[in-house]
Amino acid sequence: MSFAPSAVLVTGGAGFIGSNYLLHVVPRYADTLFVNLDALTYAGNLANLTDIEARDNYRFVHGDVTDADLLSRLFAEYGFDAVVHFAAESHVDRSILDPTAFVRTNVHGTLVLMQAARAAWKGSEDICRFHHISTDEVFGSLGPEGHFTADTSYAPRSPYAASKASADHLVRAFATTYGLPVVITNTSNNYGPWQFPEKLIPLVIRNAVAGEPIPVYGRGENVRDWLFVEDHVEALDRVLRSAPNGSTWLIGGDQEISNLELVERLLDEVDRQTGSQVGTRRPLIRFVTDRPGHDFRYALDSSPIQEQLGWQPKHDLEKGLQRTVRWYLDHIRWMENILDGEYRSYYATQYGSRGMN
Ligand code: NAD
Ligand code: TYD
Repeated sequence: MSFAPSAVLVTGGAGFIGSNYLLHVVPRYADTLFVNLDALTYAGNLANLTDIEARDNYRFVHGDVTDADLLSRLFAEYGFDAVVHFAAESHVDRSILDPTAFVRTNVHGTLVLMQAARAAWKGSEDICRFHHISTDEVFGSLGPEGHFTADTSYAPRSPYAASKASADHLVRAFATTYGLPVVITNTSNNYGPWQFPEKLIPLVIRNAVAGEPIPVYGRGENVRDWLFVEDHVEALDRVLRSAPNGSTWLIGGDQEISNLELVERLLDEVDRQTGSQVGTRRPLIRFVTDRPGHDFRYALDSSPIQEQLGWQPKHDLEKGLQRTVRWYLDHIRWMENILDGEYRSYYATQYGSRGMN
C-alpha cells in the first residue's frame, strides 16, 4: 500500500507532537499542502513552528475541531485527502482536576471531524485517509510483566484515557459502519523538544534549572516506556503513507524506566550540561501525594511496525535525554514565555496540597 496525499489537514499542530510532525513533514513534502487547525489552548504555541511558517505548502487556521461549519468550509476550500488528528486535551492530571474539556475535544471533537471527512470523502474513500493519533493509556495498567499488543482489550482508568478510548472506538465504528478509511496509532510516552513543561520530563528540567523542588508521585516506582518524539513522527509518516486501511499500530521506544530512576538520570544530566558536580540536584526530589488511580506500568510490543513497516527508533533513552536536556537549556526563553498565569495557577492547584515544600 502506498499513499501520497496532496492536501493534509493536521489538527493540533501547534502542540508538542503535532509541531514536531509538521517540522518533519512540511520541508520534506514540498508538493503536499499541510493545513494546521489548532485552537491554541494553553498547550498550543505557534512559536514552535517559526521554522516552517513562511513555507508555501503550510497554512495555519485558528479554530476548534468541534466547529462543524468551519470544518466543512475547510474541506471545501482545500480538498483534503488526508487528516492527521492530534488535537486533544492530553494531560492526565488536568483530566483528574476537570474531565469536561477532555470529553468535549477528544470525544466530540473527533466525532465532528470524522463527520466532516465522511461528508467530503463520499465516493472517494479509497483515495483518502483519516489518521487518528492515540495513546497506550487506553489499555489500562500493566503489572511488572507483559506488553500491550493491538489485540489487548481496552481498560482505560483515567478520564483522559477514557476519552481517548472512546474516540478510538468511534473511529473504528466509523470505519466499520460508514467505510471511513482510517488508521490508528497508539503510542507510549513521548519526550523531546517543544513539550509543554507540565509533563514529567520538561517539568523536571525546568525545575532543576530554576533550583526548585521536583515532585515525584508516590515513591516514584511507576514505570513508563519513553519514545523520543522525532522517532515517533517518523513512524507516523510511515503509517500514513504505507499502512493498510483499517490497521492499528503500537509505537513504543522499548525504553522502560521507573519514574524515580528517570528523574535521577535527568537531574544528573542537567548537572553535567551546566557544569555542576553530578548529584548536586538530587536533593531537590520531593515524594508527593500519589496521582489517584495512577497506572503502574505501560509497555508496548512495537515489533509489528518494526517488522512490517521497517521503522526503528533511532534514540535510546540516554541519547534522547541528552538531546532533550540540551534543547531545553538552549530554549530557556521559549519555556519561560509560555509559563504564564494559567500555568502558575494550574501548578498551585496541582502541587500546592500534595506536600511540596
Ligand atoms: P499537546 O497537549 O501538547 O497539544 C495538543 C494540541 O491540540 C494543542 O496545540 C492544542 O492547542 C490543540 N487543541 C486542543 N483542543 C483543541 C480543539 N478543541 N480544537 C483544536 N485544537 C485543539 O498534546 P501532544 O502531547 O502533542 O499530543 C498530541 C496527540 O498525541 C494527542 O491526541 C494525545 O492524546 C496523543 N498522545 C500523546 C502522547 C504524549 O506522550 N504526549 C502519547 C501518546 C499519544
Ligand atoms: P506524565 O508526563 O504526566 O505522563 P503520563 O501520565 O501520560 O504517563 O507522567 C509520567 C509519569 O510521571 C507518570 O507516572 C506520573 C509521573 N509524574 C510525577 O511523578 N510527577 C509529576 O510532577 C508528573 C507531572 C508526573
